[in-house]
Amino acid sequence: MSSPDVRQILLTGGSGQVGAEIIRLAPAQFQIVAPSRAQLDLSDAAAISRLVASQPWAAVINCAAYTAVDKAESDVVTAWAANAMGPAAFAQATAQAQIPLIHISTDYVFDGSKDGFYVEDDPVAPIGVYGASKEGGEQAVRTANPRHVILRTAWVVSPHGANFVKTMLRLAESRPELRVVADQRGCPTSATDIAQTVLTVLARMVADPEAPTGAYHFVNEGEASWCEFAREIFRMAGERGLPTPVVHAIPTSEYPTPARRPANSRLDAGKLRRDYGITPRPWRVAVEEIVATLAASRQKQEP
Ligand SMILES: NC(=O)c1ccc[n+]([C@@H]2O[C@H](COP(=O)([O-])OP(=O)(O)OC[C@H]3O[C@@H](n4cnc5c(N)ncnc54)[C@H](OP(=O)(O)O)[C@@H]3O)[C@@H](O)[C@H]2O)c1
Repeated sequence: MSSPDVRQILLTGGSGQVGAEIIRLAPAQFQIVAPSRAQLDLSDAAAISRLVASQPWAAVINCAAYTAVDKAESDVVTAWAANAMGPAAFAQATAQAQIPLIHISTDYVFDGSKDGFYVEDDPVAPIGVYGASKEGGEQAVRTANPRHVILRTAWVVSPHGANFVKTMLRLAESRPELRVVADQRGCPTSATDIAQTVLTVLARMVADPEAPTGAYHFVNEGEASWCEFAREIFRMAGERGLPTPVVHAIPTSEYPTPARRPANSRLDAGKLRRDYGITPRPWRVAVEEIVATLAASRQKQEP
């Protein structure tokens, strides 16, 4: 039996990049309960209400989402069910239970036309189904449960799951040259660092009913285009004996995708620093850790 000081936290998306890191890094004071999608689907509002009401959770963290940005363009109903209806059900159920809700959101709520880093109260204007559905989720959370933190992040990478670092290293194995988009800018961000941030916010929200609430941005420090990001990944990979293809810069127009992406995805994390004392690491430091982990696991696999 767990000690009465151990608080139970309900987490969705435990098999995803961010959720898996939260489970790995959670301190002993939190027992993280992470039902799989098969056990709790975001589209099942009744199941969400039942589970939240079923026991005295200290908080809910909603990391799960329909994250297939291109597929969402033709799978609108499913994307909205997961990214807007699911969070709405969590927001209502957590409000009823009077517990905090930490909800992860995205830079894709913005259209990317701003000249500079986005702050939390910049107007949202999503340009695709994924962004619009995530914005729907934000609105629902904001409306139903005043004790919420909406944590927007961007360009998430980790040694697990589907992400840009893994895609680049995989392509490098078979291609001597790559063409990578150079006119979209953002802030590469480690899932590990997002998880640490979520756990810091969680500890404060659980301990203090007056803890700051609202929307926050968290990304690693610095910025890059996808092309610059790729070149940095290969510089780090090269130092570890991995293949290093030549990277050619191309405009977005030469890499058409079903969903449009914001040209500017840069987020300003100053509010989180001011309210929660969280200072992000530079993205190169965080990404180097990921490349090192992936390089080491590749060496282990080699005969
Ligand atoms: N990845 C990025 O670059 C990025 C950028 C900005 C914001 N975000 C946000 O950050 C959060 C975490 O992203 P991530 O990269 O960790 O995601 P991820 O690796 O794609 O994982 C998504 C998670 O959501 C679960 N899921 C998907 N649909 C579900 C449903 N209908 N019901 C229940 N669970 C469902 C998945 O379960 P299965 O394993 O069963 O599929 C998985 O655990 C999301 O809110 C995302 O919108 C991500």
